[in-house]
Amino acid sequence: MRTQVGIIGAGPAGLLLSHLLHLEGIESVVIEQRSRATVESTIRAGVLEQGTVDILCEAGVGERLRREGVVHHGFEIRFNGERHRVPLSELTGGPAITLYAQHEVLKDLIAARTAAANGQICFEAKGSRVFAPETARPGIEFQTTAGSQRLECDFIAGCDGYHGVSRAAIPATSCREFHRDYPYAWFGLLTATPRVAEELIYCHHEHGFALVSTRSPGIQRLYFQCSPNTRIEDWSDDRVWDELHSRLAIDGGAAPAIGPILQRDVVGLRSFVCEPMQYGRLYLAGDAAHIVPPTGAKGMNLAIADVRILARALTEFYRSGDQRWLDAYSSDCLRRVWRAQRFSAWMTALLHRPDPFDAFQARLQHAEFNALKASVEAARVLAQNYVGWSWEQ
Ligand code: FAD
Ligand code: DHB
Repeated sequence: MRTQVGIIGAGPAGLLLSHLLHLEGIESVVIEQRSRATVESTIRAGVLEQGTVDILCEAGVGERLRREGVVHHGFEIRFNGERHRVPLSELTGGPAITLYAQHEVLKDLIAARTAAANGQICFEAKGSRVFAPETARPGIEFQTTAGSQRLECDFIAGCDGYHGVSRAAIPATSCREFHRDYPYAWFGLLTATPRVAEELIYCHHEHGFALVSTRSPGIQRLYFQCSPNTRIEDWSDDRVWDELHSRLAIDGGAAPAIGPILQRDVVGLRSFVCEPMQYGRLYLAGDAAHIVPPTGAKGMNLAIADVRILARALTEFYRSGDQRWLDAYSSDCLRRVWRAQRFSAWMTALLHRPDPFDAFQARLQHAEFNALKASVEAARVLAQNYVGWSWEQ
């Protein structure tokens, strides 16, 4: 098999890249290890920046997003029993955020790719391996039910997430990795309960962080800070609801209604960057190149921002033979990546219970919260970071 761009991973990065290339007349094949049904049903992100909404709409895959996505103009912070609203649109003078689940974005992208005559996504491909990334004829080997496959390409996009195989194809001497692990994780729940509030609630409590998000009027996405060693089976429904209610309890503030829990998962928090994000003709995008802790809701938005830059660079190469955009890919992405790292680490430090508990740090967190309440400038910096940066910044 031969194609122009071989893409490993059918997440937001891989699928959008394939679609953007298709719009420019560039052929690609997406290799994905999971089934289409699993990809389309895995619960992940929910918050889209305006820049992400714009690119999906401009690429012609925003019809359902426009109809079903819900625009939020602010969010609430609950801090040790106090409430404070961050009026995003008022502070930024425009952009807000849109709630639309990541797997819905993936459904829209898969529908667009499979509708196109040359839209090839190879689901349930096992044992992918990148070969010859440093040469002009790189490729991907993988297994399907039909046997071993060899895909030769001009370029490879490694969009296979943090645990994928692409990054490992870069020799350790040709990249540098930056890591931070956090001593806590998030317990995530999907519940069949009514909406708690009009806007998201980020909560700092002495027991730890909690977050109230939503997927639809009847489906809510709730999270609370837990230990990375948490075993889901140790948490009965009653224990989960008690913990959430104790953290979110506040005078005059809404709390989640108790109801069926449809899904639960534990997600570890980590910060990670691989520099540079390219090696020879292999380009990493999204979680394959960087991970942010989810508190700032930046991961999927960063993945989309990467492939916007990569699609342009590849388009320029095929149009004019000019390699300069491809050469600059990593440095063009990393400015935004580190900006998101900084903001995500800050949101995480503000809202989580330090572990082990650190009374000094707790006072600093409170001082930071007071600054957000007292200073419009401090709140504006938070709002501008949360809604995301313009493409030029
Ligand atoms: P992924 O979505 O991880 O996709 C990678 C794909 O590659 C997967 O389908 C995988 O199966 C496939 N793959 C892996 N290895 C191989 C292989 N060897 N061969 C073939 N295929 C392979 N981000 C936000 O922007 N906003 C939010 O609100 C938000 N909330 C989040 C909440 C939680 C609890 C979590 C965990 C994450 C959240 N994120 C959020 C982050 C966001 O989900 C990720 O950053 C995003 O999925 C990254 O997209 P990606 O395409 O780079 O990688
Ligand atoms: C959601 C996830 C986040 O990480 C976040 O900061 C806000 C919302 C969500 O899944 O809806």
